[in-house]
Amino acid sequence: MRFPDDVPVLTDGVVRLRAPHTDDIRAMLEMNADPETQRWTDFPPERDPERQVLERIPAGWRDGGLWSWAIESDGRYCGAVMLSGGEGGVGAIGFTLHPAVRGRGLTTRAVRLAVAHAFDVLGWDRVTWSAFVGNWASRRIAWRTGFRHLTTAYGAGLARGVRYDEWIASIGRQDDREPEDPWWTVPVIEHGGLRLRPFRDDDVDRLVETTLDERTLHWLANIPVPFGREQAEQYVAKCREGLAAGDRVTWVIADAGSDEMLGDVSVFRMQNGSNPVGEIGYSAHPAARGRGMMTTAVGLVAKQAFLPIEQGGLGRRRLEIVAAKGNRSSIRVALANGFTQTGIKRAADRRRDGSYEDLVMFDLLSDEH
Ligand SMILES: CC(C)(COP(=O)(O)OP(=O)(O)OC[C@H]1O[C@@H](n2cnc3c(N)ncnc32)[C@H](O)[C@@H]1OP(=O)(O)O)[C@@H](O)C(=O)NCCC(=O)NCCS
Repeated sequence: MRFPDDVPVLTDGVVRLRAPHTDDIRAMLEMNADPETQRWTDFPPERDPERQVLERIPAGWRDGGLWSWAIESDGRYCGAVMLSGGEGGVGAIGFTLHPAVRGRGLTTRAVRLAVAHAFDVLGWDRVTWSAFVGNWASRRIAWRTGFRHLTTAYGAGLARGVRYDEWIASIGRQDDREPEDPWWTVPVIEHGGLRLRPFRDDDVDRLVETTLDERTLHWLANIPVPFGREQAEQYVAKCREGLAAGDRVTWVIADAGSDEMLGDVSVFRMQNGSNPVGEIGYSAHPAARGRGMMTTAVGLVAKQAFLPIEQGGLGRRRLEIVAAKGNRSSIRVALANGFTQTGIKRAADRRRDGSYEDLVMFDLLSDEH
C-alpha cells in the first residue's frame, strides 16, 4: 500500500473521503482547537496535525490498524473519519468535523461510507462506536447509521487524564444500516386548557414540589429520597435518554394559559422488539389534583400513543396502566379512560416502609380507543 496513491477515494456524490494532505493542516488546527472538539474527543491540545498527516496517518495505511480519511465536500476540507483496530474482525470508527460545516449531515454521510468500507473491503464483522456521555450529535449519527446495542460504560472514557462515562454501540455486517429503534420526539398537544409539551429548564422546581409531595412519595416508592433539583435534573435526563433509546416519551402537562407545569405523563416500556406496546405513568402537582386534569392528559396521550408512527404517533397496539390497589385516584384515571382491569399482581409493589401491596393491572387496546 503506497500512501497517498493507494488510499481509496470513497464518495456518495456529496462527501468525498480521500487521503489527508498538508494543505489540510490549517483547517485541522482550527478543528482541533474548537471547544466542542476539545470537549468530546481525547485529542491533546498540543496534537500536531503536521505529524499526523506526514507520519501517523501514512503509517496507519501502510501497516494497517488505522485508516484515516479527510472528509471533503465542495472541494474543501471538512473533517476526518477513521477506522482503527480490526483484529478478530472488529474495529472502531471515529470522526470529527470542522465547526464551520457541522449540522449539514456531512459526518453521517462520511460514516456510512467508512462503515461500508470496513465491511466490504476490510472484511470486518463488526464496527464499534463510542462517545462520551452527553455527546448527542455523535450519538445521533451512530443511531442514524444503524449502530445499536447501546450501553453506558461508566468511567470507561479517558481524555487528558480525566475519566468520563462512555456510550458504546456497534453495528454488525448483517445489520440494516438504518436506525433499529425510533428516536422519539415530544410533540406539543393542546386540548381542554392543557398543553402537553417537552420539559423546560424552569420546570425543575415544580417537578421537585410534585415529587416531594407525601402522596407521590407514598405511591412511587422508587423515587430517591431526598429529592432535590439534582434528582429532578436526573429524571429529566432519564426522560431524554428514553426518547433517544426509543423507550419512553414524557410530556410535561402544563396550563395552556400560563404554561405552568401541572404534572407529567409518560408512555414508557416501549422497547419491546417488534411488539408495539407501552405503559402509561403519571404524577400530578399537589395543587393541580382533583379536577380531572390527569384524566384529560392520559386520554390525550393514549390517543397519541395509538396514532400510527407515519402520522406522528407512537404506533402502539396495547397500553397498560399499573396502579397500587389503594391508589384510588390513579385507578379512576385508568377507568375514566376506558382501560379494562385485567388482574391483580399480589404483593408486587414495595412500599417505603418495607410492606407490600397488590398492584392492579389495566390495559387498553388500540381498537378500543
Ligand atoms: C459530532 C460531529 C462530528 C457531528 O458532525 P455534523 O456533521 O454536525 O453531524 P451531522 O450533521 O451528520 O449530524 C448531526 C446530527 O446530530 C443532531 N444533533 C446535534 N446536536 C444534537 C443534540 N444536542 N441533541 C440531539 N441531536 C443533536 C443533528 O440534528 C443531526 O441530526 P439529524 O441527522 O437528525 O439531522 C461534530 O459535532 C463534531 O465534530 N463534534 C466535536 C468532535 C466529536 O464530538 N467527535 C465525535 C466523538 S465520538
